[in-house]
Amino acid sequence: MKKNILLIVLISFVNILPVVAQDKKLFSETDAEKAQRIAWWTDDRFGMFIHFGLYSEAARHEWVKHNEHLTNEQYQKYFDQFDPDLFDPKKWAREAKNAGMKYAVLTTKHHEGFCLFDSKYTEYKATNTPVKRDLVKEYVDAFRAEGLKVGFYYSLLDWHHPDYTMDDVHPLTQVDTSQANYDRLNKGRDMAKYRQYMRDQITELLTKYGKIDVLWLDWSWAKGAKHGKGEDDWGSVELLKLVKKLQPGIIVNNRLGLDEYKDGGDFATPEQVKPSELEKYKGKTFETCQTFSGSWGYYRDENTWKTQRDLLDLLISSVSNGGNLILNVGPTARGEFDYRATRALDSLGLWMHSNSKAIYGCTYAPAEYKAPDGTKLTYNPATKRLYVHVFNYPADGKLILPGYQGKIKYVQLLNDDSEIKSADAGNDLSLTLPAKKPPFEIPVIELTLN
Ligand code: GLC
Repeated sequence: MKKNILLIVLISFVNILPVVAQDKKLFSETDAEKAQRIAWWTDDRFGMFIHFGLYSEAARHEWVKHNEHLTNEQYQKYFDQFDPDLFDPKKWAREAKNAGMKYAVLTTKHHEGFCLFDSKYTEYKATNTPVKRDLVKEYVDAFRAEGLKVGFYYSLLDWHHPDYTMDDVHPLTQVDTSQANYDRLNKGRDMAKYRQYMRDQITELLTKYGKIDVLWLDWSWAKGAKHGKGEDDWGSVELLKLVKKLQPGIIVNNRLGLDEYKDGGDFATPEQVKPSELEKYKGKTFETCQTFSGSWGYYRDENTWKTQRDLLDLLISSVSNGGNLILNVGPTARGEFDYRATRALDSLGLWMHSNSKAIYGCTYAPAEYKAPDGTKLTYNPATKRLYVHVFNYPADGKLILPGYQGKIKYVQLLNDDSEIKSADAGNDLSLTLPAKKPPFEIPVIELTLN
């Protein structure tokens, strides 16, 4: 008897726990209101990340200051030299749009601390370099003019600011990790002042450039990290409240270290994961961020570029799990996209021109539809179209849709709306695809559901 009561008490406790944790909220917005606020974003599915800064000149990773343990003085040459003569965000915007991307997020300040915008609160900004321009303003105007939504990336980390205290990735703690070194370097630094600096800059970014659609704040350590930073260091709760006050419609990522709150961020940010890993995000609001090669900033000698097939797989797998893909370009120090990025964007544009209906407004398929071998599914709930992305094109042109018999009204190739003949085969539906594979790396079949 006693044992039973204990068990019941335990079970109810375990059942309550997650509910309590999920109930913790910062804002009064309901799930339905959130879905409405972010609807454009969940429909658009595909965005462009742009990492541009002083590190573009070093051309060997945006973490070069950390990787090579550079002091502010050693890094200064990149500031003195910064003069992207081919910087033309109108061209960037056209390239993004041609690739089928619908929104963009630009690094207004990365970990190096350099600001692409004309901030009142620092001298470490583009307007004080040879280029002498507010590059953020030009980006906003250009992308907006092309009808793309506009986002800002802002680094919480800052490897230049004099009040920013040491942590285990700061360039100055890499060689000497002793506490004595931390203490020495932290002398005179005041995170409270840095927190105010961030609030001031975020206020500038969210008040001087019109409507901003996305804010991407980067990043926080796992809780309990010995020399890390998070919620308290950034003043995350206050910061997020400020953001929402200044731009009520904005969509914010989840890297403020506010995981204990249900609404501490609008979307999860699986970074550089494989397509198969996205399955565990199915049903969550997420955006996977990915590079063309390994690095975010321009990396001249990095040669492991993803193929068109790799990139399409990431895009299709994101949508087939109900999420977004944001694909990064690291412009060169002259301010234009590297030829390899342009080539990749062109190849995506070719596919998207004919197949984007299987991406925009789409999500994962209803559970009753299983993906045939060698395919992935996406689904548009508004039009009731199911899309079969044929990764492995059958040599004999035969594709069996398992258990689909009686559920499908019409079948066609998506790229040209040409009819595909289908025949019942027991519970299955047997499709006869063209013997010659359509001219797309991953052709798509469109099924209209009954
Ligand atoms: C990381 C890196 C950074 C990059 C970002 C993009 O956290 O620190 O360099 O900007 O992810 O997701």
